[in-house]
Amino acid sequence: MEPIPVNTEPVSDFLQSEGQKRSSGWKVYARLIRYALVYKARLVIAIALSLVIAFSFGTMIVSLGTAVKLTLYQPSETHNRTIFQAEEDPAIKYAHEIRKWDTSIHQWFNTPPSEWDKVFLRFVDKMRAHKLFALFIAIVIVILLTFISGCARFFQEYFAGSVGAFVSVDLSQKMYQNIMTQSLGFFESHSSGDVVARFSNDIFMVNRGLSNAFIKVLREPFKALTFLIVAISVDPWLTLVGICVLPPLGYALIQLGLYVRKSVRRSLMKVADLASLINETTRGILIIKGFQMEEFLKQRYDIEASRLRRFLRKMVKADSATEPITEFILVVGFSGFILFSGYRVITYRLDMGDLLQVYLALAMILDPVRKLSTVNNMIQTSVASAERVFEYLDLKPDIQDAPHAVLLEPLKREIRFESVSFSYDGKKIVLDNLNFSIQRGERVALVGPSGSGKTTLVKLIPRFYDVKEGTIYFDNTDIRKATLESLRKQIAIVTQDTILFSGSVRDNLTGGNTHITDEQIEQALTMAHAKEFVAQMPKGLDSNLGEFGQLLSGGQRQRLALARAILKNPEVLLLDEATSNLDSESEKYIQEALTNFLKGRTSIIIAHRLSTVMNADRILVLDCGRIIEQGSHEQLLKQQGVYYQLYQHQFRNAYETTEN
Ligand SMILES: Nc1ncnc2c1ncn2[C@@H]1O[C@H](COP(=O)(O)OP(=O)(O)O)[C@@H](O)[C@H]1O
Ligand SMILES: [Mg+2]
Repeated sequence: MEPIPVNTEPVSDFLQSEGQKRSSGWKVYARLIRYALVYKARLVIAIALSLVIAFSFGTMIVSLGTAVKLTLYQPSETHNRTIFQAEEDPAIKYAHEIRKWDTSIHQWFNTPPSEWDKVFLRFVDKMRAHKLFALFIAIVIVILLTFISGCARFFQEYFAGSVGAFVSVDLSQKMYQNIMTQSLGFFESHSSGDVVARFSNDIFMVNRGLSNAFIKVLREPFKALTFLIVAISVDPWLTLVGICVLPPLGYALIQLGLYVRKSVRRSLMKVADLASLINETTRGILIIKGFQMEEFLKQRYDIEASRLRRFLRKMVKADSATEPITEFILVVGFSGFILFSGYRVITYRLDMGDLLQVYLALAMILDPVRKLSTVNNMIQTSVASAERVFEYLDLKPDIQDAPHAVLLEPLKREIRFESVSFSYDGKKIVLDNLNFSIQRGERVALVGPSGSGKTTLVKLIPRFYDVKEGTIYFDNTDIRKATLESLRKQIAIVTQDTILFSGSVRDNLTGGNTHITDEQIEQALTMAHAKEFVAQMPKGLDSNLGEFGQLLSGGQRQRLALARAILKNPEVLLLDEATSNLDSESEKYIQEALTNFLKGRTSIIIAHRLSTVMNADRILVLDCGRIIEQGSHEQLLKQQGVYYQLYQHQFRNAYETTEN
């Protein structure tokens, strides 16, 4: 057994996945085959072509063997006539056979035999008179058949290989669709590296393994079977001795394959860990350099890399052992075969032409067997990857539409929290028995120390998470009974760490909605105080923002995110420190512009700046997941409670800066 790697975060991942994956590979094969069956036509063509290939090879051996046998037959004289020569002229044997067929067929039709055996013998005589020419003909046939089987092979590989490639792309599409339905919880518990690795590395491995497997598994067994039939028809006993090697060989190969799968599985997990680390590095490079964490991260990478090295080494070891072991077992078997065939020839049970055919047939079986031996390792590799892909395909979203979900009507009266509690991990309570309602059109500010649960509260409204206890109502509908689409359509959210996507400004604002006109976009940009800087960008609305909008400043990103929310024209607007990265002047400007926009809309605004909070209709003060105070700015100041203290410490500074 492998010692379980000691690691910080991925350990649980590791154990969990190992436990789950003890299941046999058969289920995975069956599922992969189901995906492949979508491309039935291609598979059928590939199998048909495999038959053509196998048939050409079989015919090749038989025709070569027969030609050699008939033409190269030497009369039964030896240099001293003391040795008893029992070898019969093979042509006579064949003539007997032909005669038998001739009579029985003609008996069936009630006609006299047409003496095909004589025709045959005359043909043999002619060939024997021109031995070289006869051989030449045989060789021409071989070349022709090789050409045919070569063409067939090209198309066979093309059709079978493409099925493998298509299946892997299909899997990646399905996986993407399924990932998209997952709740936030999924993305928080899976590192981005793991997700990315499954899409890149694992899909690639599935593709490579499947393409190879489909090409070889659909072809080599047919070839092997044909050779076997040829060999058996010539000498079943000799063949039996020849194929004695197959069971031990099969056993050895299966064991090696399992070993490969185990190592691959582990190395895949390491690859995913490394991908996470790389992702963290590229995203956090500023902090890494600023806090001189390079050495620390380098060490982490080295540790993970050395584990990866160990797993890969094992895989390579098993892989390299496969062919030599196969060869050795085959040769041991083959020597028994040679002894036995010698015995058969010496005792006149076998002539040289037959021996040649059996030799050729069995020697050619070696090729499919060897190919299948390596393809097994490759299949095992792709099974290890496919398991990881299927794991993601099987994920059920923990937040989805209830069975008879209704369409949520536009908000008419209020959003109401009734005894709402929430916890991320089931242990630490983040929101504790919240009871309040927000009237339609009301502008509510949410304040409280950091970690008090403000962001969490806001995320419950679009059902990014579901409440653990209690209910959130839109008018009188429990939001869990409404469709996610109709709920989220009414809500726009802007968060502090604004997310933009690579692509144009326009795409980021409209989310691909082509009904939105440029005028509407301009309007929203004006309101969000973003018009000027967008106009200054080289291509205006068509300028690319770079990955995560990296090419913009934090403030610019927030302004675009605001414009995006405005464009959505929502019933409910949730602003979670949405203006925290703005200079006070821009914020003031946006405040004024938003005042108009917010009329008639319901909004929850989390902010630290006093000016923003002061303008709210009502202020909720959250502490440790509980609402401890609520009221207007003046009321709360009079109470001289927590809000008053926050005001003293925090807001006043901000207020003063704003005023300066
Ligand atoms: N995704 C998460 N998983 C687990 N705990 C979380 C998560 N997000 C926030 N928390 C915890 O929930 C509490 C409230 O966080 P949050 O709602 O972000 O507070 P606020 O926005 O008021 O600063 C904090 O103690 C924080 O550690
Ligand atoms: Mg927050």
